Amino acid sequence: MEGLVLKFFLLYSLFHAWLILFCSSMHVNHGNETDRLALLAIKAHIRQDPYRIMTSWNESLHFCMWHGVTCSPRHHQRVTDLDIYSLVGSIPPHVGNLSFLRVLNLQDNTFSHQIPPQIGRLHRLKVLSLSNNSLDGTIPANISNCFKLIFLHLGRNNLVGTIPTQLSSLSKLRAFSLEKNHLTGEIPPSLGNLSSLRAFSVTTNNLQGSIPSSLCQFKKITDFYLHSNRLSGTIPSCIYNLSGMISLSVARNQIQGSIPSDLFDAFPNLQFFDIEENKFTGGIPLSISNATSLQEFLVSLNNLTGQVPNLGKLSSVMVLAIGGNNLGSDKHGDLSFVSGLTNATKLSELTLSANNFGGTLPTSTSNLSTNLEYLWVSANKLRGSIPNGLGNLVNLQSLALRGNSFTGSIPTDIGKISRLGGLYLQSNKLSGSIPPSLGNFTMLTRLYLQGNNLNGSIPSSLGKCRGLLELDLSQNNFDGTIPQQLLIGLPSLSISLNLSKNHFTGSLPMEIGRLKNVGALDISDNMLSGKLPSSLGSCESLEVLQLQGNFFKGLIPSSMKELKGIRDLDLSRNNLSGDIPLFLEGFRTLENLNLSFNDFWGEVPIEGVFKNLSATSVVGNTRLCGGIANLQLPVCKSKDSKGGQLSGRMKLMISLVSGFTLLGNTVVLCFLFLRKTRKETESKTWRTLFCKFHMPLS
Ligand SMILES: *[C@@H]1O[C@H](CO)[C@@H](O)[C@H](O)[C@H]1NC(C)=O
Ligand SMILES: *[C@@H]1O[C@H](CO)[C@@H](O)[C@H](O)[C@H]1NC(C)=O
Ligand SMILES: *[C@@H]1O[C@H](CO)[C@@H](O)[C@H](O)[C@H]1NC(C)=O
Ligand SMILES: *[C@@H]1O[C@H](CO)[C@@H](O)[C@H](O)[C@H]1NC(C)=O
Ligand SMILES: *[C@@H]1O[C@H](CO)[C@@H](O)[C@H](O)[C@H]1NC(C)=O
Ligand SMILES: *[C@@H]1O[C@H](CO)[C@@H](O)[C@H](O)[C@H]1NC(C)=O
Ligand SMILES: *[C@@H]1O[C@H](CO)[C@@H](O)[C@H](O)[C@H]1NC(C)=O
Ligand SMILES: *[C@@H]1O[C@H](CO)[C@@H](O)[C@H](O)[C@H]1NC(C)=O
Ligand SMILES: *[C@@H]1O[C@H](CO)[C@@H](O)[C@H](O)[C@H]1NC(C)=O
Ligand SMILES: *[C@@H]1O[C@H](CO)[C@@H](O)[C@H](O)[C@H]1NC(C)=O
Ligand SMILES: *[C@@H]1O[C@H](CO)[C@@H](O)[C@H](O)[C@H]1NC(C)=O
Ligand SMILES: *[C@@H]1O[C@H](CO)[C@@H](O)[C@H](O)[C@H]1NC(C)=O
Repeated sequence: MEGLVLKFFLLYSLFHAWLILFCSSMHVNHGNETDRLALLAIKAHIRQDPYRIMTSWNESLHFCMWHGVTCSPRHHQRVTDLDIYSLVGSIPPHVGNLSFLRVLNLQDNTFSHQIPPQIGRLHRLKVLSLSNNSLDGTIPANISNCFKLIFLHLGRNNLVGTIPTQLSSLSKLRAFSLEKNHLTGEIPPSLGNLSSLRAFSVTTNNLQGSIPSSLCQFKKITDFYLHSNRLSGTIPSCIYNLSGMISLSVARNQIQGSIPSDLFDAFPNLQFFDIEENKFTGGIPLSISNATSLQEFLVSLNNLTGQVPNLGKLSSVMVLAIGGNNLGSDKHGDLSFVSGLTNATKLSELTLSANNFGGTLPTSTSNLSTNLEYLWVSANKLRGSIPNGLGNLVNLQSLALRGNSFTGSIPTDIGKISRLGGLYLQSNKLSGSIPPSLGNFTMLTRLYLQGNNLNGSIPSSLGKCRGLLELDLSQNNFDGTIPQQLLIGLPSLSISLNLSKNHFTGSLPMEIGRLKNVGALDISDNMLSGKLPSSLGSCESLEVLQLQGNFFKGLIPSSMKELKGIRDLDLSRNNLSGDIPLFLEGFRTLENLNLSFNDFWGEVPIEGVFKNLSATSVVGNTRLCGGIANLQLPVCKSKDSKGGQLSGRMKLMISLVSGFTLLGNTVVLCFLFLRKTRKETESKTWRTLFCKFHMPLS
């Protein structure tokens, strides 16, 4: 897409430069009154001018000296070029009176309302660019009267309706773009008459129907963009006769058919080929083996089949995206083509995900270009180990091997890829422990290792991945305790921390309170024990908290009343006890509360989430009473309600007791943190907060 914009810009600049040469040298003169009035009308329709570029449009300067206005001395100071930007307003019909205009460039303004059909009176116009405004209404067919037009760009507006068939009379047109509007209907077959076109773009509209074969008359076309519409049918075979083609995109339509095997022989200069998200079938063209000019080959999300041909001559390729097809045969050697890419020194993105590739990931993968930034091989049928040596790909930003059957351990040398942002190794059969070198990923935001057979303890070095937003180690065989260093090191975690379904032991470290930004915390189905740390209340962004299936005991800490955004709270299958805290009634966002199979006692609250039988579960607690009638719990003993004072006193006792324990903890914590402050830069405010938070009986 940037390529397209650039090309349009280059074309435009060429004409522009030529016109300036043609029309240069200005003298102040009486000027033409018609043009002056038209310019004044344009000025009157400007509502905002943030960069004050219109200040020069004043009576003390001749209009030929006004910013963005160029006149021709050869034609009695008539305006030939109008080029203004960054303004807010609309285009008045008077623009049609600038009858000597050759260039009307109003791109990159915020002009709204319609395109005045009076533009059709500009018979000398060669360049018309109104792109990147907020123009609405339909495209005036009268533009077709500008029969000298070479460059027409109406893209990036809010234009509706169909493409006027009359535009086909613009026989000198070289560049034509209507991209990013809301145009409907079909591509008029008459446009095939635009036989001088080099660049044609109607992308990102709502066009339907098939691609007219008349467009094969674009004999000089180099850039042909139809992507992001609702086009159907096949690409007319005669298109492949347009041998000057450099960029071709029909991505994101509903186009069928196969890619001709001799595509790259037909288009020897093809650099950019994008058919992503269509319904193409058949194989990748064999002629790709000769595609020395090819830079981007994007065929993902179709239904291509067969083996990938030899890619050994793709010396210019930067992006190869063939994911989401049915390529490969689940056999050894399916990825042998990868070794052919080792000479592609500019390769930056390789997407092979979601195909039927079997066998192993070749060791030559590690010899790919060090410019590689994205290597995506997920959701295939790959076996064997992850090749050692991937660490050579030092500029990788994302490595995705998810959803294969990789075995063996995570290669230590992956730690050399210091710029890695996402490491996706989940849903494989990896074993062994996490290499401590993974702590080298200071730019890592997502680390997914879930659903493997990894074991050992979590290396505390992971706490050095200071940019992590999401960490998922669930469904492995990890054991040991949850390292405090991990929690201290990762205040960045803002999406989720998932350690569930492992064999972690020990208590939940009170440093859990450091995760102030984390939205979801899942440590369910481990072997954690002890009391829930009161610091949990500091995880104030929590929406999902899953602690079920452990051996936690004691009370629900009163600090948890701070978790005001919680949606899903699961404490089931533990040994928690005491009253169900009344503050749970007050959590407005709480949708799911599971307290089942613990040892809670006393009265079940009835307000808030407790009102909704399906949102709350308290089964498997033998000493509960009250609650809404549908719970069918025993009525609380009358002395509870009659002796409200007594029960109140009981509650005070309990909170005093828990208060003392909290106080004890707090003193220890504050002490610990005082000792640590010298090491930890950000801990001072934190410590103050923390100690404040734990003031008992506040
Ligand atoms: C201004 O333009 C009009 C219409 O094109 C023309 O008739 C007239 O001679 C021009 N006046 C001057 C002073 O150039
Ligand atoms: C007219 O524009 C010129 C050039 O920007 C400026 O120097 C001059 O001050 C302006 N005059 C008035 C009256 O605004
Ligand atoms: C210029 O165009 C407008 C609108 O199209 C018109 O009203 C006006 O009379 C024309 N002529 C002059 C000299 O401004
Ligand atoms: C569109 O125009 C605005 C100014 O109105 C500019 O800031 C922006 O960069 C332009 N966008 C493109 C894609 O050229
Ligand atoms: C549009 O063009 C037609 C003929 O091609 C002409 O009769 C009509 O006046 C034009 N409209 C405007 C607003 O210039
Ligand atoms: C295309 O152009 C030819 C002549 O160049 C003309 O006869 C024909 O009517 C045009 N077709 C359309 C659909 O405009
Ligand atoms: C392509 O052009 C050749 C001649 O240059 C012609 O024989 C052939 O029929 C054309 N193919 C299509 C599909 O138009
Ligand atoms: C590659 O190009 C050579 C020479 O032009 C040609 O002989 C060969 O058939 C081409 N290979 C493929 C697979 O198209
Ligand atoms: C892809 O093509 C195969 C046959 O080659 C067919 O069985 C399958 O249904 C197609 N899948 C889709 C999503 O069209
Ligand atoms: C890479 O290029 C060298 C030199 O041109 C060549 O010898 C080698 O065979 C090429 N490797 C591949 C995999 O094509
Ligand atoms: C990778 O490249 C190195 C040095 O160029 C070479 O020695 C090694 O054999 C290559 N490995 C593979 C698997 O191609
Ligand atoms: C990566 O981490 C390991 C162990 O933590 C360390 O020995 C090594 O020097 C680190 N490498 C880099 C490149 O930072």
